[in-house]
Formats: sequence, C-alpha cells, structure tokens
Amino acid sequence: MITTASERDCERFALLHAHGFAEAWDASALRALMVSPGAIALASADGFLIARVASDEAEILTVAVAPERRRDGQGGALLSAAIDAARAAGARRMFLDVSSQNAAAQALYARAGFTQVGRRARYYGDGSDALVLALTLA
Ligand SMILES: CC(C)(COP(=O)(O)OP(=O)(O)OC[C@H]1O[C@@H](n2cnc3c(N)ncnc32)[C@H](O)[C@@H]1OP(=O)(O)O)[C@@H](O)C(=O)NCCC(=O)NCCS
Repeated sequence: MITTASERDCERFALLHAHGFAEAWDASALRALMVSPGAIALASADGFLIARVASDEAEILTVAVAPERRRDGQGGALLSAAIDAARAAGARRMFLDVSSQNAAAQALYARAGFTQVGRRARYYGDGSDALVLALTLA
C-alpha cells in the first residue's frame, strides 16, 4: 500500500536513502525537500519516493526500497503512485536522473515508459554519467 508521507517519516527515509545511495541525504535534507512547494512524498512498507511538481513539469528527486525488500513491487508501486499524483497536480511531463551504472533503476523506469532525453557526463561522485529520462503524462 502506498501512503502520503509526512515530515515525521524523514528519519526512516534517511535510513532507506543511506542503504540505497553512496551519497546519503540526511533527515534534515529530506525534510526540506518534503516540505518544499509542489513536493510529493510517498511511502510504501519498506520504501519511499520524493518528487516535485513545478508548473507543468514533475521531477523524481529520489526513490529507494530497503535492500532486503527489493524486487517485490514496491518501487514500481511508488513510481506509479507518483506518476498519478503528478498528473493530478497538473504536470504534463515527468523527468528524472539515473546513473548509467544503475541497471535496476533503469529497468524500473523503462517499464514505466520513461525514455532517455539527455545525458550529463560524469555527473555522479563515482564518475558515472547521469541519464536524463522523461515520461509524457498528458
Ligand atoms: C530502483 C529500486 C527503487 C527498485 O525498487 P524495487 O522495489 O526493487 O522495484 P520493483 O520490485 O517494483 O521492480 C519493478 C521492475 O523494475 C525492474 N527491476 C527492478 N530491480 C531490478 C533489477 N535488480 N534488475 C533488473 N530489473 C529490475 C524490473 O522490470 C521490475 O519488474 P519485475 O520484478 O516484474 O521484473 C531499488 O532497486 C532501489 O532502492 N535501489 C537503490 C536506490 C536507487 O537506485 N534508486 C533509484 C535512483 S534513480
């Protein structure tokens, strides 16, 4: 089940983020994103997603599922709920960055219909490129 998250979830999300990314965002950074204008913050049993809508564009800022609970549909459910929420908020296109080394996330996004629209060379700390993906919502 996907629920709307609140600021109170930021400590739990920080733990999930630390398990998902080499460059962890702490609870206060996540709280700031969650309360920013246009934020969409969603929780699953063992995962979370934060997106933001500005005008008619949405961006996935982060999504992570606990390592031991991956490949059980939570990431896909979070993404699907974020797409619905962004569309309901008036977004016509959704964007995100994903590492060229992150095959799991690329597969998740491809399955949802995202396609590559750009590439930022050596964008991440490990030297990998960021693929810029987009999905038309409207
Ligand atoms: C990316 C991530 C959020 C996916 O979460 P998840 O709960 O495992 O995703 P799901 O179980 O809903 O998978 C949905 C689909 O994505 C694809 N997928 C997910 N993990 C995959 C993997 N390891 N290898 C290949 N495809 C994968 C599959 O198509 C999968 O569908 P299927 O299981 O029916 O084949 C999770 O791997 C994660 O937290 N990774 C670390 C953080 C991260 O990289 N976030 C994305 C940053 S852009």
